[in-house]
Amino acid sequence: STINLAVIPGDGIGPEVIAEALKVLEKAVAAEGVVLEQTHYQLGAEHWLATGETLPDEVLADLRTRDAILFGAVGAAPGDTRIPSGIIEREMLLKLRFSLDHYVNLRPSRLYGTVGSPLANPGTIDFIVVREGTEGPYVGNGGSLRTGTPHEVATEVSLNTAYGVERVVRDAFRRASARERKHVTLVHKHNVLVYAGHLWKRTVEAVAQEFPEVTHDYLHVDAATIFMVTDPSRFDVIVTDNLFGDILTDLAAAITGGIGLAASGNINMDRTAPSMFEPVHGSAPDIAGQQKADPTAAILSAVLLLDHLGYTAAARRIEAAVIADVETRDGGARSTSAVGDAIAAAL
Ligand code: NAI
Ligand code: MG
Repeated sequence: STINLAVIPGDGIGPEVIAEALKVLEKAVAAEGVVLEQTHYQLGAEHWLATGETLPDEVLADLRTRDAILFGAVGAAPGDTRIPSGIIEREMLLKLRFSLDHYVNLRPSRLYGTVGSPLANPGTIDFIVVREGTEGPYVGNGGSLRTGTPHEVATEVSLNTAYGVERVVRDAFRRASARERKHVTLVHKHNVLVYAGHLWKRTVEAVAQEFPEVTHDYLHVDAATIFMVTDPSRFDVIVTDNLFGDILTDLAAAITGGIGLAASGNINMDRTAPSMFEPVHGSAPDIAGQQKADPTAAILSAVLLLDHLGYTAAARRIEAAVIADVETRDGGARSTSAVGDAIAAAL
């Protein structure tokens, strides 16, 4: 068989880490007799500077014909005034996630034995965050009146639909049901955000009826940040909205020793469009072009991609090679390509 893969390397360290992910991916699927067909797309901040294009409709239509998308990172250096704030995020990245209906933003968090955690007593950390990806405060449902005056009024209204909440909550329960601890934690703030919060709470209670084997509890988002630092082993599957999930998953990456290891999937579970897999980190302009970036997050994103497409044997082999590599790291500096080579060699 063939995987028809779209590749968006992006800006900064994006192309560097994607090169390593492709190296490992190609070798792992070739061993299973699978052909990896790649189509590369130039998108991102550099592309916008050169052409003024964010995500043209023809490119979006072309991306729809692929089986999956492997994405590096996009974005200019903070303080680069040539690029208006938000244009790449809203008109490219969020447009991709919304247009391709990536309603499950999956972010696993796991602490490997030898990786330092900033926590004194991290315990066992092995949970996933199922972040809603197409609704919430990120939909652009707002505006500004009297902009730039002392009387400015700005709104950014969170959008939550019964349809959107239910499908992501059901996904979280399905994933919990397949895991050992079978536990879902809803994170929200329903004591003050009562309209959206109560919709989420009622939905969790209703969907839980379909999964008697899965236990569930609830945390306000502020309390969740405390427990993520003081007792992260309590979490198994967290389900939450787009904004809370964005913030919590950066914290989740930090407690497991870093952004260089954190993978994510933007998943359309109905398979009406290709899903997109990307490291959680950004384009890291401070280390770009120096072969200093850790490609592990990009490689683990390729594992999520293979799992989504059903190539679970290849996924488990890459995962095992990554774990073996991470467990033997001694803190010595290795180049981006040296890490990719070592993981590819260990397959
Ligand atoms: P960042 O994640 O790019 O970098 C934060 C820090 O982590 C930097 O010190 C960087 O060197 C380090 N870092 C990141 N990835 C690493 C890796 N693989 N190995 C080793 N160190 C790594 O976040 P920042 O600096 O806030 O954003 C830079 C640009 O990236 C901005 O334009 C931002 O908008 C964009 N961005 C894009 C994302 C995406 O494409 N999904 C996500 C986050 C930020
Ligand atoms: Mg984020």
